[in-house]
Amino acid sequence: MPTISVRSSAGAYDVVCEPRSLARVPSLIRRLGDSTGAFVVSSPRVWRHWGKTLAKILGAPAKKPILFDDSESAKRLSTIESIARQLVRAGADRRAIVIAIGGGVVGDVAGFAAATYSRGVRLVHIPTTVVAQVDSAIGGKTGVDLPEGKNLVGAFYPPRLVVADPVFLSTLPHREFRSGLYEVIKYGVIADRRVFEFLARHMDAILRRDPASLGYIIPRCAAIKAHVVSKDEREAGLRQILNFGHTFGHALETATNYRRFLHGEAIAWGMIAATLLALAADRLDERSANRIIRLVLSVGPLPPLSGIRTIELKRVTASDKKAHAGRVRWVLPPRIGACKWGIELPWSLAARAFAELPLIAASNGR
Ligand SMILES: NC(=O)c1ccc[n+]([C@@H]2O[C@H](COP(=O)([O-])OP(=O)(O)OC[C@H]3O[C@@H](n4cnc5c(N)ncnc54)[C@H](O)[C@@H]3O)[C@@H](O)[C@H]2O)c1
Ligand SMILES: [Zn+2]
Repeated sequence: MPTISVRSSAGAYDVVCEPRSLARVPSLIRRLGDSTGAFVVSSPRVWRHWGKTLAKILGAPAKKPILFDDSESAKRLSTIESIARQLVRAGADRRAIVIAIGGGVVGDVAGFAAATYSRGVRLVHIPTTVVAQVDSAIGGKTGVDLPEGKNLVGAFYPPRLVVADPVFLSTLPHREFRSGLYEVIKYGVIADRRVFEFLARHMDAILRRDPASLGYIIPRCAAIKAHVVSKDEREAGLRQILNFGHTFGHALETATNYRRFLHGEAIAWGMIAATLLALAADRLDERSANRIIRLVLSVGPLPPLSGIRTIELKRVTASDKKAHAGRVRWVLPPRIGACKWGIELPWSLAARAFAELPLIAASNGR
């Protein structure tokens, strides 16, 4: 499954998703048509690991990259202004191509810069984290945060090309790598039983970053994301299944001011809670629920939930931008490999699921 096609309102684009696809980037970019130049946007951290390799492969555009600090706090409007000004000074015009090389922060920021620079220039994503390869580079969401909240300013701006080479994952810090795996598990639970079974059987190899295992799992997850956003670009329906684990997950991130959990780690707790909720609501059988929870826990220890109160989570989930008039609509799996969205349930069931989480952690030896 090396090349996956994604449909979008701005036209179809390819996600090239295989080992050694990086070497093909120059020829793939040439296929996008004439341009007045390609401009690389990345981060110092990514560049430290990959700058030399990229300069060899991409040539001139990678010799003078536009680098910005890709911590979440740099994902803000002033960074867009800075990138746009550097693009002007580098001579980028309307027929330029922006190549975003990095994780989700680089992709979201460079993507929004490409969406707005000269009212939109062509965008190529070269994702370098698990999250970016299976999630953020596909689907066209770009944007930045405001002090008032995450991703509050942005645009749907589909790329013209995505090249996801698993080789990049070899240099990811282990906690980042593991955190991305929770989103991979999410795809198995909501959409593909075979992915779930593969993860259950090969988690050790995946945690060792065995290239063959990653080469199997990354394209499959990218294909699931591609399928979902091709059917529902604007999140009117099906795309909501991607929010499995995210209702509780976002609440945990907010309740801890985004300091305690990496995103995937919060989603891991969120998936466990949603699974317990599905079980409590009689919407999922006990064996499947246990398997999902076991798989999530098999990725390794999660930051603790200490000090987070259920009442606080209720307040945060009710005010989440995805809640409707204060009513939470849950995304729950009726079985492994399938998902339903828009489910309303009494809060008491959700509170019970959350209250059970520390027991789950304890039963797993933590
Ligand atoms: N647009 C979307 O649809 C979408 C979807 C999911 C997440 N996101 C956004 O993505 C962001 C999170 O992205 P992320 O999880 O990819 O993390 P990230 O972009 O924050 O990167 C994590 C860290 O890894 C470093 N890094 C990246 N690639 C590396 C590599 N190959 N080797 C070594 N270090 C590397 C980065 O410099 C950074 O320090 C959030 O801002 C989130 O809102 C967007
Ligand atoms: Zn997520």
